[in-house]
Amino acid sequence: MRSLLPNSSVTVIIPAGGSGERLGAALPKALVAFAGRTLIEHCVSNIAPIANQIIVAAPSGYEDQFRALLGDDVLVVTGGVTRADSVRAALAHSTSDFILVHDAARSLASSDLAGRVIDALVAGEKAVIPVLPVIDTIKEINSNGYVLSTHKRSDLRAVQTPQGFDAATLKEAHASSRDATDDAALVEAMNIPVKTVEGEERALKITLPADLATAQRVLLGDQSADIRVGVGTDAHAFSADPSREMWLAGLLWPHEIGVDGHSDGDVAAHAICDALFSAAQLGDLGSNYGVAEPEWAGASGAKLLQETLRRITAAGFAINNVSVQIVGNRPKIGPRRAEAIAALSRALADAPVSISATTTDGLGFTGEGKGISAIASVLLTATDRIS
Ligand code: CTP
Ligand code: MG
Repeated sequence: MRSLLPNSSVTVIIPAGGSGERLGAALPKALVAFAGRTLIEHCVSNIAPIANQIIVAAPSGYEDQFRALLGDDVLVVTGGVTRADSVRAALAHSTSDFILVHDAARSLASSDLAGRVIDALVAGEKAVIPVLPVIDTIKEINSNGYVLSTHKRSDLRAVQTPQGFDAATLKEAHASSRDATDDAALVEAMNIPVKTVEGEERALKITLPADLATAQRVLLGDQSADIRVGVGTDAHAFSADPSREMWLAGLLWPHEIGVDGHSDGDVAAHAICDALFSAAQLGDLGSNYGVAEPEWAGASGAKLLQETLRRITAAGFAINNVSVQIVGNRPKIGPRRAEAIAALSRALADAPVSISATTTDGLGFTGEGKGISAIASVLLTATDRIS
């Protein structure tokens, strides 16, 4: 834990009320996802370790969606027309001595960066901003496109967030309804010194579609050479024994007759295990849980998924996503799809899972109602290459 002044605390205000026009997605920018999570979720989880209070300004109409994503520890308020309006809406609820204002669009900013900002506040600064050197030469131009002046590059810095303020200073800065894309500019206008600390590359601002790919690369490293695909399939015949339980996709299906086999016969779970082993080059279901390891003989699908995850993790792989298709006339997957996805995902430590289902138009053993099968594909990343 950071050594704050006695009795002092940190509120992080996250303006996330923008529409993300330049990103061009159908949803507000903060709800767009990369690497399996929305921008706002990345942002909150990265900054949370240093915050006593987090207030997010959401686009009007999306507040409940934000609340559902962020949980009870985060206060969600309605954002305003401009970024400064959104900051003001959140500021009214702040209870701390130090306030960090942090764009949702800088989703990957680390708690180390926030820590540097807080350290400078604790040392007595009233306003602190993270900055990076600029790479391009910057020129000032007039409205006709002619250059007015060239600024000395070594004197210039690109500004990031989180920007930190002593609470009274920020509240005074926002007391007028002025607009600014940068909170420090309001403090500068009050002639209060604004201190700079070193920014970080990963605090890049996600603005254009290409920035999402950059952010994903920053988060996961360049995966192009490190991604492994795997495929797996399994099939079982329906049992003649009407008391046989049906287990599929980690769920018990009451009123359905199960399949033959000595395990629970969960074809979806088995196909996924096979796909995971195959992607990790660790053999298959049979070579892992066969005669050599009899303790797994009757294990449930969920147990096998958990153990398979443990084995591929130990071998240095992480799951990007899992997709499984269930082929058969029954049971009907649609009504319990969300439940089944949750069950499989839970067994795989919350990995993204999708489930599709199909019948085969009366053809083959599945179409004739003799049994059920599943085919799974997975994508893994070699974790030793994740930066
Ligand atoms: N923001 C806000 N309320 C607004 C406008 C912007 O809270 N009325 C937030 C954005 O959600 C973002 C941050 O301010 O986290 C910086 O703004 P920007 O990156 O420009 O995001 P958008 O305004 O959403 O994007 P665009 O300008 O492309 O529409
Ligand atoms: Mg904007």
